[in-house]
Amino acid sequence: MEPIRVGLLGLGVVGGGTFNVLARNAEEIARRAGRHIVVTKVSARDLVKAKSRVGDAAQVVADPFEIVRDPSIDIVVELIGGDGLARELVLEAIAHGKHVVTANKALLAKHGNEIFALASEKGVMVMFEAAVAGGIPIIKAIREGLTANQIEWVAGIINGTTNFILSEMRARGLPFADVLAEAQKLGYAEADPTFDVEGVDAAHKLTLLSAIAFGVPVQFDKAYIEGISSLSQTDISYAEELGYRIKLLGVTKARPDGIELRVHPTLIPAKRLLANVEGAMNAVLVQGDAVGATLYYGKGAGEEPTASAVVADLVDVTRLHTADPEHRVPHLAFQPQSMSDKPI
Ligand code: HSE
Repeated sequence: MEPIRVGLLGLGVVGGGTFNVLARNAEEIARRAGRHIVVTKVSARDLVKAKSRVGDAAQVVADPFEIVRDPSIDIVVELIGGDGLARELVLEAIAHGKHVVTANKALLAKHGNEIFALASEKGVMVMFEAAVAGGIPIIKAIREGLTANQIEWVAGIINGTTNFILSEMRARGLPFADVLAEAQKLGYAEADPTFDVEGVDAAHKLTLLSAIAFGVPVQFDKAYIEGISSLSQTDISYAEELGYRIKLLGVTKARPDGIELRVHPTLIPAKRLLANVEGAMNAVLVQGDAVGATLYYGKGAGEEPTASAVVADLVDVTRLHTADPEHRVPHLAFQPQSMSDKPI
């Protein structure tokens, strides 16, 4: 069978990781997807650097619109980030009938309703496993593994940078700014790290989890958001003395009067599992009415953990697209069931 053709927008940390994982595990991935998944075109700002990274394996172009308009490309992987150019590119890719895989939580948290509506109209898939909790397959877990349940609440550590900062401040007594610089060096932090430290990145992800868990529209503007920038070493030491750890939690809960969405530093008893999630790791608790509490743990940021989720989406899209190439059945990543559920 012909390979499925992928256009990659962006060859930064996650783009580079995606390229590597696809190349390294090409045969296993092809077996699981039912056909080879081949990146045929890559867009990047630094053409020389990109060419040296991909070699002859793919064509490197400067203009990302060349990829979203290319009739030979089946799937567009958006990894450039931000919600300006990325929005235009994703909408245009969908308009051209292409499936989209993205790791862009900011884009979907702000423009997800518009993007999903267009995808529904065009009968294409928009997949975003990598947008939430890095390598943890939390979206698949909620959407597929827990599909029999009414989800009661979801709570978790969903920003690796802030968890790394809080862990290092506690364990090594290092100043906030030094640990943030280290997180940036390790490729955990957002291009604008205030999104991490002020809780915005966690709120983007929580909004997507909430939409999946409760079948409601994406409603980032209704989230309560408080970050960790006002926390001091003294807060962390006092918490420890009292038998607690401070974690930045995202919580979304179904309540009779609406959906609760909040991100804020939280005192967690030191013996609890979530309190012992350290470094850039993420952990998400999901409570379902049938299954009870379930916990998902793994690397929430970084090159290959995030690439792992991007490639998993590529495999899913490839399988579904191969089964139904004309998109006669609308394949949606997210289908709101009740547009009337309001946030509180
Ligand atoms: N800046 C994000 C984090 C990257 O630290 O979790 C992964 O989404």
